[in-house]
This record gives sequence, C-alpha cells and structure tokens, in this order.
Amino acid sequence: MSASPRVVAVGGVQPYDIHIGPGLLGDGELLARAISGRHVLLLSDDTVAPLYLAGVRAALLQAKPGLQVAEFLIPAGEASKTLHNFAGAINALAALGATRDACVLALGGGVVGDLAGFAAACWMRGVDCVQLPTTLLAMVDSSVGGKTAVDIAQGKNLVGAFHPPRAVIADTAVLRTLPLRELRAGLAEIVKYGALGDRQFFQWLQAERDALLAGDDAALARAIARSCEHKAAIVERDPLEKGERALLNLGHTFGHAIETAQGYGAPGNDNLNHGEAVAVGMVLAARLSAALGMAAAADTDTLRELLQACGLPVAIPPGLDAGALLAHMRLDKKNIAGRLRLVLWRGIGRAEVVPDVDEAAVLEVLRQG
Ligand code: NAD
Ligand code: GLY
Repeated sequence: MSASPRVVAVGGVQPYDIHIGPGLLGDGELLARAISGRHVLLLSDDTVAPLYLAGVRAALLQAKPGLQVAEFLIPAGEASKTLHNFAGAINALAALGATRDACVLALGGGVVGDLAGFAAACWMRGVDCVQLPTTLLAMVDSSVGGKTAVDIAQGKNLVGAFHPPRAVIADTAVLRTLPLRELRAGLAEIVKYGALGDRQFFQWLQAERDALLAGDDAALARAIARSCEHKAAIVERDPLEKGERALLNLGHTFGHAIETAQGYGAPGNDNLNHGEAVAVGMVLAARLSAALGMAAAADTDTLRELLQACGLPVAIPPGLDAGALLAHMRLDKKNIAGRLRLVLWRGIGRAEVVPDVDEAAVLEVLRQG
C-alpha cells in the first residue's frame, strides 16, 4: 500500500469519513470543509499542543479567515479525563460565545478525543466534533464510533454520551513524534481487531510486527486503514452498542478494572496506559475462555506471544488485589442486572459476548495474575 491519503467511510444515520494520510493536519481546505459555523474550540493537551496546534490553527485560518478560534488545553494523560476538565471545556465554549453551529476540534490522543467529544455532545445539546487523532490508538479506535466520556474515581468512562464525529482526520506523519510506549499501546488495539474477528489480519500482524514497531509508514498505514474498516463496519451496524459492538471491548472489562485500581496513568507514573491495560485484559479474557472450556489454551499462548513481541505487558501488575479488581468489573457498562457480561473468545478471530459469567472463575484467573 502507498502512503497516499485514503478514506474510510462510516455509514449509518450520521455518516462521516475517516481521512488517513501523511500531512493532513496542514490541509486547511480539508479541515475547513468539516466546519460549518464560525466558532471553533481547539482542545488539546500540553504535549501535543506545542507540536501541532499552531500549524492546525494557521492552516484552518488560511482556508477560512473569518473563524473565531479559541483553545483549551489539558495536562497530558488519562488523569485529565475528568468532570473538572469537562467543565473547563464547557466554560471555554461559553467564553467563545459558541453557537449551535460551533465545532470542537479534538487534537490529541484518546484522552483529548473522549473529553472533547463529550463537551461537544453536551454544549447546547450537541455541536459538531471533528477528531484529529495524534496517537496510533486514537487513529485506530477512539476517534471513530462516537463514544465520548470522562472517568470518575469509581470507574473508567462511566459518564459520557454517544456523539459521532463530523469527520476524522488522521495525519499519520505525527506518529513520528509519538513515544514508542504509546505506539505499542496503539498496537494493542490493532491486535484486538485481529483477535476478535479477523484471523488473517492477526497473522499479518504476526508477520509485520517488526515493521510496525519500527514505525514503517506503509505497514502502519495498512494497519490503521484495516483497523478503521473493521471499526467502521461494526459501528455502522450497531452504533449504540445494542449488540455486536460489545465485541470491540475484548479485554476491556479486565483492562478498565486495572486502570481504575491503579488510579489512571499519567506522564511520570508507572501505571499502565489504556492500550497496555487492554493487552493484559485480552490475555486474561483468553485465559478465562480456556478455563471455561470455550477455547484452546494454545490460542492464549499465540495471543500472549504477539503482544509480548509488541513490547506489551501480558500479566496483572504486582500489588493489585484480585477481589478489588472483580469489584471494579462489576461496575462495567456491559453488565446487565448485576451479572458479569464479558467478551470472551473461541480462539483467534472468534470473540463472543458471554452473559452471566461465573464470578468464581473470573476471580481464579485474577488471582493467578
Ligand atoms: P492519550 O490521549 O493519553 O495519549 C498518550 C500520550 O501521548 C499523551 O501523553 C499525549 O500527550 C501523547 N501524544 C499524543 N500524540 C502525540 C504525538 N503525535 N507525539 C507525541 N506525543 C503524543 O492516550 P491514548 O492512548 O491516545 O488514548 C487512551 C484513551 O482513549 C483512554 O482514555 C481510553 O479510554 C480512550 N479510548 C476511547 C475509545 C472510544 O471509543 N471512545 C476507544 C479506545 C480508547
Ligand atoms: N472501543 C470500543 C468501542 O468503540 O466500542
């Protein structure tokens, strides 16, 4: 595949395009096309903003000089995905005098994207959000599909809304400044698409993992596009997670419990970031599936090996209590009537939602670490 821009269309009631390619953040016409009104709030974090915000702002204003652009910056890291910063974004929209045709531009990783999307969902009951993902994880997952949220102490993403973006513009050139740890976190979500429903893609990832880890443009572009195609197909059919969209949460119930128990990652602490927690969570889900007789243990080994080869953790970090993790899992959004509902698998490429999972079996997997 060449590194030229490509477009993945997301259909459904509120269709939009995902643009993928190098240099797109400098394409003022493309950015401006996604904005219908006069007011723009550029939301970013204090790592991404010094790198890319001025360029986006300049490109946008050159293409549409009449725009009123305000900025709202948060400290980088999961610990910023809070109700406090949500209120900050809302106050910034109010100070801008943003009307219903306003647009929130989310320039950053999934933390910025989820927070910006939630602010856009709530301001005047909903204004446009355009996602400008700058992490691999955000390009392949969080910028697509319209899930927006903030975390609270009791759990990840417990306060939020479904609010599809107006457009997603993924400039793959920005991945060159992404730290290797964050690139690896994105690979976890990419492996997830193979693990949950595409054995062939999983095998391609096994073959291409060194190229991906080395930041090879063509391999990354192919992995991003394939992941977006998978996500687009699922959210198009099930935008509000009434059914199959839950499969996209393979590993997430375990992973979110780890993130919540650790108190969320931030630059400067060693807590797992989201992608790392999902990697551990997928292995735990595979181990539980094997323990329940749903899948062969050899598939767990294959998954673990690929994740490890991508430099990702595959076991629960030391010091986390199994009972406390189970308590966090009970507050997962997929649960129904107080029963654990988990995404498990029958092997690579065959995930399924399992209602009413035996808590004793889950606890045993958690105890083994
Ligand atoms: P993140 O937003 O915290 O970004 C990771 C780090 O990379 C941050 O420190 C950021 O400042 C830095 N960074 C971002 N782009 C950079 C670049 N180009 N160069 C240098 N540094 C850069 O984390 P993330 O992994 O992108 O997103 C994780 C979040 O996404 C979690 O909150 C998770 O819950 C959410 N998420 C949401 C969905 C969804 O469907 N809405 C899906 C998956 C994950
Ligand atoms: N990342 C899970 C979803 O979008 O549904």
